[in-house]
Formats: sequence, structure tokens, C-alpha cells
Amino acid sequence: DKGTYPFYMLKEIDEQPNVMRKLAQVYLNDAGDPVINTDLLAALKAADRLYVVAAGTSYHAGLVGAKLFESLASVPTEVHVSSEFAYNQPLLSEKPFFIFLTQSGETADSREVLLNVNEQKFPSLTITNVPNSTLSREATYTLLLHAGPEIAVASTKAYTAQIALQAILAKALGQAKQQSGANAFDVKQQLALVANGMQALVDEKDTFDQLAKADLLHTPNTFYIGRGLDYAVSLETALKLKEISYVQAEGFASGELKHGTIALIEKDTPVIGIITQANTAGLTRSNLQEVSARGAKTITIVTDALAKNDDTIVLPTVDERMTPLLSVVPGQLLAYYTSLNKGLDVDKPRNLAKSVTVE
Ligand code: M6R
Repeated sequence: DKGTYPFYMLKEIDEQPNVMRKLAQVYLNDAGDPVINTDLLAALKAADRLYVVAAGTSYHAGLVGAKLFESLASVPTEVHVSSEFAYNQPLLSEKPFFIFLTQSGETADSREVLLNVNEQKFPSLTITNVPNSTLSREATYTLLLHAGPEIAVASTKAYTAQIALQAILAKALGQAKQQSGANAFDVKQQLALVANGMQALVDEKDTFDQLAKADLLHTPNTFYIGRGLDYAVSLETALKLKEISYVQAEGFASGELKHGTIALIEKDTPVIGIITQANTAGLTRSNLQEVSARGAKTITIVTDALAKNDDTIVLPTVDERMTPLLSVVPGQLLAYYTSLNKGLDVDKPRNLAKSVTVE
């Protein structure tokens, strides 16, 4: 039931702080250490490489997860789009472990890969929001997202839940492998900070409504740019906008723009820069200046620690590896209000179904 909300999507965006708290409650003990099935941890520890396989928004969550696994657990991690992996399997490492990210647990493209993985007798984990779903039944292990039902076609809380759970799992694996960085990473505190930061953002709905009206409602196209984790979020926020508002949106690695795509920048093309990583903040700012000099209207989404006076949206500072959990929220709200102000059916965009059960 969507209660007083006009659309499920807004309700689901609003639920994200509680989803963060719920995951901490389910998967962390009082000391803040992960509580993860020991067989699953042993299987992960035995792997020489992780393969994260997913589609759409879940693939974007995987891009963030890979950074967490590499940084906290020092395990090389590849992320693949399931429909590609299924018929073009890359050369695998000696001891691969597969992680399927799927909100619904029913995505046919991802299932096709799991069937192949099972035939090859490799261990696997499905991270899903739906207990007893097909991919959860067919994988070796399952972890549930506990996000509550996600009804809107555009995925929001499942994305942030997938990232948060991967952070917990990466810490667990890092600790099992005695990685000092994993012990130092206080995931409980980080999730509490993220929950508060998300709450502050969703409390500013009017800001995003106004911004959507001013900059996105009448544009035929737009760009989201960033580097590293900010690039990963730019892919996700662009997908959100395309999917429900039908504005052509592209998520782009900000350094790559000048290698061709910058030709598309015209007067008033909105370019949204995501800046949360200290080592690339200056570079993305230069890329924004380049497009601004060609007439683009720039919007910035920046963490407190890296903010300047004229930034558009300032996010509270959290561990740099956790920033996607906050930087995605403005993108979700901008997409929501663009769709709403266009008078579209936010929850049921054209041509799309909630779970994609054909290949
Ligand atoms: O249920 P899944 O997570 O496997 O679904 C994957 C994609 O179909 C899904 O994330 C899709 O991209 C969303 N509609 C995006 O908002």
C-alpha cells in the first residue's frame, strides 16, 4: 500500500534510511562485526576472483560492490552484464566465485548465467530481495536484501540495499582474510551516517522538484559525469532519468567526454557532475568547466569535504567507498520529479515490466 504517497517510487526512495538500519540490524552484531554464514565465508575465502553478474540497476550496484571487495578484502573482482556473460563467457580464473545481484531473483538473463555456472560446478551466491525466488533457489547460497517489496519499476531501495550488503560482505571477507583495512572499516558507523545523510536528502524534496522543473523538464538530453565510483553512480542516475522521464540521458566517465561526446554539448545542455572522490575531484571540476565553456548548464553533487561555494547539492561526508549510497539519492529524486512534472506514470513507465523474465 502506498499510503499517502502519489507513487510507490517516492515511498521507496523515502524508505532507504530504514533499509540501511535494517541491514545493520540483520547482518551486524553489537560490536559492529558482520554475521555471515560460515560456509559462505569459507567458499568466498577459497576463491581467487569474484565475478559479479547482474542486469540494469543491479549491474550498477555491482560496479560499486567490486570496489568494496577489492578494497576491503583484496580479492580481484569483475562485474559483468548478465546478457553478455551468458553467451560470451570470458576466460575464468582457477577458483571463481559468482555473485548474482538481482532484486527480483527472476531475471532471465542472470538465470541463464547461473545455469551455466551450475553446470560448470562453480560456487555461487544470490543477493536478492525476494525469498525463495528462482535465482535464490538455484544458487549455492542466498543473502536477502530485507528492503521490503519494491513495486515501482524503477529500482531505488534495492540498489542501495545491494551496495550496503556488499559492503558488509566485503568487510566480513576482509576480516576472514585478516586484512587490516577491513578491521578499520566501521561499517556499522558508516551505515548509521549514510542513513542520516539519506534522511537529510529526502527531507529536501522541494529542492529537487525545483531543480527538475528548472533544468530537466524541457531538455531533450542530459549527461551525468564522474570518475571511479562517481562514474558508476552516473550510469545509475542516467538510467533512472531515461527510464521514467524519457529524457535521453547518458552516464559518462568525465575524462572520456573530450574524446568525442563533448560534440553533443550545446547551449543549456544539462550536465550533472558527481564529485565525491578526493583524488579525482579537481579533474571532474575541470571537465565541468570544459562543458560550461561550451554552453552547458552544470549541476554539481558534491560531498561536504570537497564542496565549494557554488556547488548545487552538498552531501554529508562519509567514507569515500560508501558515497554512492548518498550521491545516488539526488539522481533518484531528480528522475522522480522530472517524470512527475511531465505527468507520466512514474511507477509504470512505457515498454517496461518490473521483472524481465525473457532473454
Ligand atoms: O530484478 P533484477 O535486479 O534482476 O532486475 C534487473 C533490471 O531489470 C532492473 O534493475 C532494471 O534495470 C530496473 N528497472 C532499473 O530501474
